[in-house]
Amino acid sequence: MSISEKVKSVIRDVPDFPKPGILFKDITPVLANTSLVHEIVQELVKDFKSGGYDAIIGIESRGFIFGSLLAYELEIPFIPVRKAGKLPFHTISESYNLEYGKATIEIHQDALKPGSRVLIHDDLLATGGTAAAAARLVHKLGAETAAFSFLINLSFLKGDNILFDEFGVKPNYLI
Ligand code: PRP
Ligand code: MG
Repeated sequence: MSISEKVKSVIRDVPDFPKPGILFKDITPVLANTSLVHEIVQELVKDFKSGGYDAIIGIESRGFIFGSLLAYELEIPFIPVRKAGKLPFHTISESYNLEYGKATIEIHQDALKPGSRVLIHDDLLATGGTAAAAARLVHKLGAETAAFSFLINLSFLKGDNILFDEFGVKPNYLI
């Protein structure tokens, strides 16, 4: 079985969460499978090992999990992008539409050096609103979004096209 097939078979689809009509992709069974977590990290870093990235951004909250593991494996700094009001120091913010609602995310204003090449990671790409807002934060700090990495792409929502059109970067995803 390929790594993608394994991940697909372990992710749990939960209907009508958090709202009626949403099919939630629950990655907690993946996290409980230590050998699969190891394989996923090795697979995700393949695309980025030779990329010369200066930092990885993980998007709260589910993007923190594999984002941290990727940063550790690539030996580059992990930078959290968090939901509004959670970061303690001076921040800049971006608001966006979510698949189910509205939200604002923030980054510390001194989190990235101008000109640095950043890899943005999240667990799931749906409409692309969250990742696009994170990339706008990166650009506001004078840095560059060099890559996007996701575990899951909900391809029917065309978030990958939206990110490519706005940032000229083709997102990577496992499934
Ligand atoms: C989910 C998911 C992504 C985002 C994708 O996060 O983890 O971050 O939605 O949606 P989009 O591509 O349409 O923007 P959510 O905001 O539900 O929060 P969580 O990660 O804290 O669970
Ligand atoms: Mg999220």
